[in-house]
Amino acid sequence: MTGGAHASERAKDLAKRVFIKTYGCQMNVYDSARMFELLAPLGFLPVEEPDKADLVIFNTCHIREKAVEKLFSELGAIHRTKLMNARRNGGEMIVAVGGCVAQAEGAEILRRAPFVDLVFGPQNYHQLPDLVARALRDRGDPIVATDFPAEPKFDHLPEAAAARGVTAFLTIQEGCDKFCSFCVVPYTRGAEYSRPVVQIVTEAYHAARSGVREITLLGQNVNAYHGEGPDGRDWGLGDLVRRLAELPGLDRIRYTTSHPRDVDDGLIGAHRDVPQLMPFVHLPVQSGANRILSAMNRHYTVDSYRQVVERLRSARSDLALSSDFIVGFPGESDEDFVATIDLVDDIGFAQAFSFKYSPRPGTPAASLSGQIPESVKSDRLAMLQAALESQKLRFNNACVGRTLPVLLEKPGRHPGQLVGRSPYLQSIYLTPTERRIGEIVLVQILGATANSLTGSLEESTAG
Ligand code: 5AD
Ligand code: SF4
Repeated sequence: MTGGAHASERAKDLAKRVFIKTYGCQMNVYDSARMFELLAPLGFLPVEEPDKADLVIFNTCHIREKAVEKLFSELGAIHRTKLMNARRNGGEMIVAVGGCVAQAEGAEILRRAPFVDLVFGPQNYHQLPDLVARALRDRGDPIVATDFPAEPKFDHLPEAAAARGVTAFLTIQEGCDKFCSFCVVPYTRGAEYSRPVVQIVTEAYHAARSGVREITLLGQNVNAYHGEGPDGRDWGLGDLVRRLAELPGLDRIRYTTSHPRDVDDGLIGAHRDVPQLMPFVHLPVQSGANRILSAMNRHYTVDSYRQVVERLRSARSDLALSSDFIVGFPGESDEDFVATIDLVDDIGFAQAFSFKYSPRPGTPAASLSGQIPESVKSDRLAMLQAALESQKLRFNNACVGRTLPVLLEKPGRHPGQLVGRSPYLQSIYLTPTERRIGEIVLVQILGATANSLTGSLEESTAG
């Protein structure tokens, strides 16, 4: 028997249950799903609790300091579980750290948590079966796999397994060449890469065949997508959306996260012409002050952002927006912050995420002068979040009395109740209905809070 075959036999014998904890963005959610698929042929079944697992994977996020600290406290807890399992039944739990913290701080992880057996980056997880087999074989020596491979991992991943829900994520683009001065992504995920159209369409086709009605195309810079088309030309996101809209059963298409600079005419045209493309766009603006946008290296101004929004809205009048904001970027003055609030008031966001600036090691902004005190950041965040929250409530309230198409997604808390999602990603709680999960029904919206809507089936679609 060869060493590799021997190791994979041992992998089958020794470790049968895997627990994955996912932090951070939707791309990590997608990656974790692919990790389960990669490990299934080795005999690993998913479990819901880490103490029942033979292999525990933390799929980590490095975007802000808080996320990293959370990881280290979870690692402390898993160390205790690992020791207890070993004492109780001689179990040999393998602890693996993947994702963006692994990429950026592999050595630091092994220094602070030397019981970790395996560290692997976001571009290396296709090697997991081999890495896990090696970890089982070479116990004691931690393995680090954080090089950026020459060939994209997508060429080595097995075909995606049948989807389980009615919604799914699909990574079409990864990495980033934009180098915003606050952001670690270009360092952790590497250079921008777009998957070929055929690969994406095949994955989406199988997802739709297994019951997925709504697909969210993922990328750090999803609208910078320029994948090789079947005709040998580069296709943009608009072209790809048009092609995906031809797939039977795929009723809804979304994409995230986009960059204001890469909203091109092809994408605007898709919003105008493709009904399956949902009228809800996550378009991070980060700040409403040109001075700060320039220091952030965002390559747009407040005015050009407004123009992008206008172009989108004139292509699709019912389009709503969501955004990301950072407060307390180095050098942000009170006036700059007020300019952000003004922009928020002006545009009107249906939803938004906002964060205190978090200096990330190795990024240019971390060493800028004019770092803002934590207390100022907290005050600004509270003010911004109050403004965004009231806009969200206003948007939700404006839906009352409207009829919205709702994708039925899962059972609600009460008997017969179903929860669905609107085109704007709002959760809609429906009064009891005979209709089934996976159907898209017309719903009359009856009530709203900041977090959800309630409604009942419209007469014409009831039955
Ligand atoms: N500090 C705070 N927020 C950040 N983001 C990215 N990097 C940082 C940072 N260093 C936010 C941005 C981005 C979102 C995914 O996370 O708003 O759009
Ligand atoms: Fe980070 Fe900027 Fe790239 Fe987005 S565009 S991933 S914020 S560097």
